Amino acid sequence: MKNAVYPGSFDPITNGHYDIIMRSSNLFDNLIILISNNPAKKYLFNVEQRVYIAKELTKDLKNVKVMEHQGLLIDFLVENEIYYIIRGLRAVSDFEYEFEMALANRWMSERKVDTVFLMTDEKYFYLSSSLIKQISSLNGDVSGMVPDLVSKMLKEKYNQESQ
Ligand code: COA
Repeated sequence: MKNAVYPGSFDPITNGHYDIIMRSSNLFDNLIILISNNPAKKYLFNVEQRVYIAKELTKDLKNVKVMEHQGLLIDFLVENEIYYIIRGLRAVSDFEYEFEMALANRWMSERKVDTVFLMTDEKYFYLSSSLIKQISSLNGDVSGMVPDLVSKMLKEKYNQESQ
């Protein structure tokens, strides 16, 4: 059985992330979407909300499971005996950051864990969670960039904040 983990902040999941989820669930027997913590980021949605979104969006995908993890990614992988990490690559600007993480994870796992990169679909290569949040916070329309559920939750979030 080939198992993989797709870790990320997913704050929130965009259509670009969703595309990577669909494609990697076809490549592996089992895929875990791991809602993780990037210490460099301040999140709009809390972990429960990010887990809820990921679960709702993947409820029909039989080989996809959603979990959360707070510590080092590599600890989760070793504990669960999983040797593949999935990450999406957009523009060249992603490369250096992803390269550093992939090498660090490989080094920390004594060369057991590999990162598999999928190129984003060209439709989504300009998308980022920050861009979505910025557009949505200024009342812009993000439909077509994120799943409907995310679009709805963003609207609710920014309406609450402005009250
Ligand atoms: N389509 C659209 N957007 C994409 C994308 C795609 N295919 N692929 C990446 N992105 C964007 C995201 O929207 C996000 O945008 P943002 O920076 O504006 O929020 C950005 O690229 C990457 O975010 P995401 O994929 O959600 O995760 P991340 O980079 O925040 O996640 C972790 C990093 C959580 C995997 C990493 O910090 C981690 O492993 N943390 C655990 C602690 C640890 O082990 N640290 C050591 C790591 S070596």
